Amino acid sequence: MQLVAYANRLPVTRGRHGWRPSAGGVVSALRPALEPRESSWIGWDGGAGDLPRRVEGLDVELLPVRLSRREVDDYYHGFANRTLWPLLHGLVEQPVFERRWWRAYRDVNERFAAVEVDGGGLRWVHDYHLMLVPSLLRRAHAGPIGFFLHVPFPPPEIYARLPWREQLLDGLLGADLVSFQTETYRDNFVRTCARLREHVRVEGQTIALGRRRVRTAAHPISIDAAALAEGARSAATERSLRGLRTQFGSRRILLGVDRLDYTKGIIERLRAIEYLLAERPELRGRLAFVQIAVPSRGEVREYRELRRNVEELVGRINGRFTDPGGDVPVHYLYRGLPPERLLAYYRLADVCLVTPLADGMNLVAKEFVTAQAAGGGNGALVLSEFTGAAVELRDALRCNPFDLEGLAATIEHALALDEGDRRRRIERMAADVARHDVYWWTEQELAAARKARSAA
Ligand code: F6P
Repeated sequence: MQLVAYANRLPVTRGRHGWRPSAGGVVSALRPALEPRESSWIGWDGGAGDLPRRVEGLDVELLPVRLSRREVDDYYHGFANRTLWPLLHGLVEQPVFERRWWRAYRDVNERFAAVEVDGGGLRWVHDYHLMLVPSLLRRAHAGPIGFFLHVPFPPPEIYARLPWREQLLDGLLGADLVSFQTETYRDNFVRTCARLREHVRVEGQTIALGRRRVRTAAHPISIDAAALAEGARSAATERSLRGLRTQFGSRRILLGVDRLDYTKGIIERLRAIEYLLAERPELRGRLAFVQIAVPSRGEVREYRELRRNVEELVGRINGRFTDPGGDVPVHYLYRGLPPERLLAYYRLADVCLVTPLADGMNLVAKEFVTAQAAGGGNGALVLSEFTGAAVELRDALRCNPFDLEGLAATIEHALALDEGDRRRRIERMAADVARHDVYWWTEQELAAARKARSAA
């Protein structure tokens, strides 16, 4: 069956040697579904006027949506990133409500839905940027429509603050299947529909709209575990790992890998490390915390402020705990890394700190356990209970990132765990990720969307 994916960004990036497939989580997740069949991807062209219809190394037709500077500001920086992002992440920042942004969001969603595609097939819409697209497609498209939300869906009392709450729910209810990362987000959505939409009837996990039925599902997204494990054992990764081991010597390594986003709990993590170093002087000089912070959404005020706050805090901790002539406790890298370098860091780490305040899934946690197991490692995973990944990775050391002293104690506990225990935990988690990898996720999503349509 032909497949048409809709996502905010197209899955390609322009590098020094021309266009190539992008490396992000959404792209890696959708490729296994799209490439084996006739498929297209509708997305924002990122301002490039000369985008080719196809790019080498990616067997998907690219259908660009062009946006003006003003539309990017209002729809993407504004409504998507300053209204919906903080709201859907449970108000970890204050959402901003602007009518102008809402109008731009509606117009841009209409533009996405209006892109002409030859043939029928399954329409698969992704994420919070495009919540109106399912109902817009339904007007003209007879085939099945699926929607997958990559981020959390909050409880009704939080969602209800949105001035355009009914419109977005009706947008989603245009799909045959609305999927979420976890049962909790799915339940939140179903309860929200029951509370805010009078014309719907909730029948278990199905929403009835007159004679139509909208199915809901929880399908946790994942990684290509076999490919990642192979990369983690590659000669390039081994080389990089040897270099890092020489640099860091016998110091124990704590690792954080995140987009620089306020949902990721980077400030809380740094504060916990500062507290630990203050309370346990014997750890000073024996610990290094490497924070890889990938630049993100720099046009948005809250992200610029976060960068300033993170950098100030890194400076404060290093100023406080560095011995003259000695190494700093916090190694802060404000950039993305080539894959073999990132994999080498995953293998090097004694403890990976995945401590978001809210996160739909978090693929770093899945990548870390897979890379560790592939390299025969026994690193520990400290994982926030407010991530989708915490539902699956039961052998992680769970933490509440809002509790600074509790987080510091969990990091200390992770460092003290017996080696055999750590190894067993990593192996069990990696086996679970390998079973529920991105191919498994794809099958669940596509099968459920087809079934939902035939039963609708
Ligand atoms: O996880 C949500 C998400 O919006 C992804 O869809 C996206 O790849 C990532 O965050 C990065 O965000 P942006 O596309 O805004 O840079």
